[in-house]
Amino acid sequence: MSEVTLSPFREGLAREVAPPPCTVVIFGATGDLAHRKLAPALYTLKHEGMLPGRFSIVGYARSAYTDQAFADDLKASVAEHARAPLEAGTWEDFASGVRYVTGEFGDPAGFARLKTLLDALDRERGTAGNRLFYFATPPSFYPVLFQNLAASGLLDESGGGFARVIVEKPFGRDLASAQALNAEALKVAQEQQIFRIDHYLGKETVQNILVFRFGNAIFEPLWNHKYVDHVQITVGESIGVEGRGKFYEEAGTLRDIVQNHMMQLLALTAMEPPVSFAADAVRDEKVKVLRAMPVFTPREVSERVVRGQYGPGSVGGEDAPGYRAEPGVAADSSTETYVAIKFEIDNWRWAGVPFYVRAGKRLPKRVTEIAVQFKDVPHRIFGGQGERPGDPNVLALRIQPEEGISLKFGAKVPGARLTIEPVKMDFLYGSSFGAEPPEAYERLLLDALLGDSTLFIRKDEVEAAWGLVSAIHQGWADAPPPAFPNYEAGTWGPEVVNALLAKDGREWRRP
Ligand code: BG6
Repeated sequence: MSEVTLSPFREGLAREVAPPPCTVVIFGATGDLAHRKLAPALYTLKHEGMLPGRFSIVGYARSAYTDQAFADDLKASVAEHARAPLEAGTWEDFASGVRYVTGEFGDPAGFARLKTLLDALDRERGTAGNRLFYFATPPSFYPVLFQNLAASGLLDESGGGFARVIVEKPFGRDLASAQALNAEALKVAQEQQIFRIDHYLGKETVQNILVFRFGNAIFEPLWNHKYVDHVQITVGESIGVEGRGKFYEEAGTLRDIVQNHMMQLLALTAMEPPVSFAADAVRDEKVKVLRAMPVFTPREVSERVVRGQYGPGSVGGEDAPGYRAEPGVAADSSTETYVAIKFEIDNWRWAGVPFYVRAGKRLPKRVTEIAVQFKDVPHRIFGGQGERPGDPNVLALRIQPEEGISLKFGAKVPGARLTIEPVKMDFLYGSSFGAEPPEAYERLLLDALLGDSTLFIRKDEVEAAWGLVSAIHQGWADAPPPAFPNYEAGTWGPEVVNALLAKDGREWRRP
């Protein structure tokens, strides 16, 4: 048997099956996402040999561009953002399949032009009628995009080619709008054709939560209310809203991070073992977790949810303006840039184990981690002074940066006295595997091209997550907002957030 040597990148993404010939159509092709993430990810896949030879990319947007001007624009984005180096030969091959259609998202004539082009590409480039449509437009266009794709016959799979749609977040802005969007989409497409993306699921370390839990025998027996005291999930960012003030005013941290990324991290941490790694088996278990979480009453919202907004301060030694001074933000904005919540999961495994989650902008550092804190020993035998009840065993899954896993436990300090100090066993992705992990969008685009929806969000999941989040918005709507800003940029959030754990006799970690 001949030996195949894969580069670390290829090894990271190599799959038994390669995607079939196809065309990727990007709606909103001139936007930020297309340039910063999608084109660089597709080019890197090309560079790593993961795209089919017969492949095209069609950009669709309102601004007028020629094919050449669009390709030139993508080239600049690829040079700046792609993980793989821009190489002349690879680029020319990639660019030979790039086309552009100028059109309004609501204009059937634009879709007719798109269809004519896609049919022509099937003939010229052999893309075999397989199409992946990416909605990278403002979300208000999603319904009309579904309608126009359907009306122009582009969602019809009866000819044998696939027609899949990746829908970027946010998928709705509350439970009702998410349900309405699902209903609209499912009028014209099957659930298997719809890929609701959450880029956190494309992160290697997020996928590793499942491998860690279900690919090892030693942790799972401890993973329940008998041994776990509580779980803390942190999605901290040191950046502010990065010029996206207008967007953020409409979103806030609860919609931007908690409804999607945070709920996914929580579901992966808490779910039961699926029977296999098949899409529906995994998603069935995730949705069960979300459904086992009680929907808060307004009173519970006031007791269990803390919101914050940053004022001016300093992050990493640099002055940072307050949220209200960011472009596009109202001077009296009541949008939250920080949320902390005490969730519970009412099921057999997790009864009585709080899941404390927090997410915020302009915190002291960028850190995403899941920390499982174990219960104390049942009986102290070392005579008190040697034991440190305040230093429990903690298993921390570091999602980013410094990707890895650490386990904290007590060890005897060498010497004649019996003193116990916490020490750590550390696994670091970088040193163990030595390879740069693929970008989340590379993995997810490849999966969608292969028709694998394991790492995409199903209809019932997105609605269950919105149900929880919309109840919090409802509680906020009924209560006066706190006096914002209530934390300084560069700190770990508003002071009151400590009380959320202190009343349970616990403390937040300082990651
Ligand atoms: C996005 C949010 O979904 O996730 C951003 O809209 C946030 O506000 C980003 O900054 C964080 O992603 P990452 O991959 O940098 O953790």
